[in-house]
Amino acid sequence: MRIAILGAMVEEIEPILIGLDPALSPQSSLNEIVANTKHIRVQTIANNRYFQAHYKGHEVIVAYSKIGKVYASLSASVLIEHFKADLLLFSGVAGAINEQLHIGDLVVATKLCQHDLDITAFGHPYGYVPEGKVYVESSEHLRLLAKEVAKQKGLKLYEGVIATGDQFIADPKKKEWIKNTFKADALEMEGAAVAVVCDAYDVPFFILRSISDAADMDASFDFDEFLKSSSKISADFIIAMLDKIIQ
Ligand code: ADE
Repeated sequence: MRIAILGAMVEEIEPILIGLDPALSPQSSLNEIVANTKHIRVQTIANNRYFQAHYKGHEVIVAYSKIGKVYASLSASVLIEHFKADLLLFSGVAGAINEQLHIGDLVVATKLCQHDLDITAFGHPYGYVPEGKVYVESSEHLRLLAKEVAKQKGLKLYEGVIATGDQFIADPKKKEWIKNTFKADALEMEGAAVAVVCDAYDVPFFILRSISDAADMDASFDFDEFLKSSSKISADFIIAMLDKIIQ
């Protein structure tokens, strides 16, 4: 099987690459990973690097897209078209909307929407364009596997709607608007773009996020503070998911 693992930022994928090559030291930076790995091959396509590993008899391709919907769509397309990924797992951090979600909590997207997509001037609902859909659903099978992984590891795993947009949200009013308009539980900047691409190619996908902030006035401070630790929480779960998928 060929399994793609995508993040948006380098911090989101470093712990994944370390998880794929046990010979690497746990705190390695991407530069150190590239310099020291004997098992991960690097390929540049469309100005971005893709990291190919063989893991327990399967091919795993890892990348960080860079932030935002356009880069995320490009990377998801390359992973599917060039690397022929059979499924795609996304790992990273998100801002919490649902008050039950706290820093470090894991949330799996049941469905995703684009909160910044707006042609309401033509009578369409927010998040909709003709021939598209407001919500794109993730793979139910992968979500079921995730629940099994969470149970085995004794971890709490939330499910909810994730809203995506090309904006870092650090404003309680904007967050409230996204909550009310899309009934969203968390927000970030790539998930729905990946969802649209995978849905179009009929490739099963799974979007996991660990909370880094509450999309409020403190969001940029919290994001900087918790990006690494929350990325690691998400990455560790994704590696466990990978083991479950290929077992
Ligand atoms: N990812 C993590 N926190 C975020 C926020 N507050 N806004 C957008 N994307 C995020």
